[in-house]
Amino acid sequence: QWPKYVQLKEVGPRDGLQNEKVWVPTEDKIAWINKLSESGVREIEFSSFVHPKWIPALADARDVGMQIKRNPDTTYSALVPNMKGLENALEAGIDGASVFMSASETHNRKNINKSIDETYPVLGEVIQGAKSAGKQVTGYVSTVFDCPYEGKVNPDQVLRVCDRLFENGADNLSLGDTIGSAVPSQVEALLEAVLARFPEDKIIMHFHNTRGMAIANIMTSLRYGITRFDSAVGGLGGCPYAPGAAGNVATNDVLYLLHGLGIETCIDEKKIEEAAFFIQDKLDKKLPSKSLAYAASA
Ligand code: HMG
Ligand code: MG
Repeated sequence: QWPKYVQLKEVGPRDGLQNEKVWVPTEDKIAWINKLSESGVREIEFSSFVHPKWIPALADARDVGMQIKRNPDTTYSALVPNMKGLENALEAGIDGASVFMSASETHNRKNINKSIDETYPVLGEVIQGAKSAGKQVTGYVSTVFDCPYEGKVNPDQVLRVCDRLFENGADNLSLGDTIGSAVPSQVEALLEAVLARFPEDKIIMHFHNTRGMAIANIMTSLRYGITRFDSAVGGLGGCPYAPGAAGNVATNDVLYLLHGLGIETCIDEKKIEEAAFFIQDKLDKKLPSKSLAYAASA
């Protein structure tokens, strides 16, 4: 029995662009996000308030946040690593803050320059600050299956990080297959552990599609009652601090799957296709989504 409704968060403007070498001009980002807003998608992660030296592609987060046209049915969130990021993000009008850390020590250090233990108080402060400003907070946990530096990650390690983020006040958690390495048996093992502890409506799955396993992993997650996923139009994306990591699962492919299964999403597939073609043109490279490639040839 499939769920009636699944909620996708479009992370293309953040996870999708953060790894791109090509600078997408601010006005193009805004035009693109406006197209995404028209698709009906209920949440868009529009940019990232990290240090611009670490992620130059998103150095214009503030301007983007201030100039996009808001769909009243859509939540506009952004990545926030610390209080400086939160200050900028609030000025830019975020509806939601996404804090982030890793389940593995080495990826955490490479990505945010801190140990796991040093990260909790920093994120705790951001979560409290965002909550008292009335914002939703999602906590990303990266490398929940495998770490590009340490190999296999034990579900217990993931649970420890999840516990701390929930204790600190996160509303929900997004569990990241950062390097797109998991197979469904790993997803089963993790979800058995996670859902024994936390309700399924607080858990979002975030699959990268490096090895083409993301759709299989989404199917597995659906069977466990997960109804929230992150995806990026066309399959854009990747973490610059995770060597070899490819794009997110493509929104186009996920929509093809979900709508084919009879699951509602509130998202217009055609509009998502248009948004994918738009950014594909701007980046001047073919995006990996199979459904998009089919649409282009049809
Ligand atoms: P740091 O260098 O340790 O920061 O970086 P610091 O606190 O020591 O500050 C150093 C300087 O940076 C100071 O400036 C700060 O003001 C400034 P100075 O006094 O030297 O002139 N600074 C900032 N400036 C602008 N915005 C800020 C900010 N913070 C400090 N927010 C930091 C620590 C976390 C900032 C850095 O490591 C960073 O920006 N990392 C981001 C890396 C990143 O964005 N990675 C990709 C996103 S995560 C991901 O993709 C995974 C995910 O998709 C899930 C999955 O797939 O698994 C979410
Ligand atoms: Mg990611």
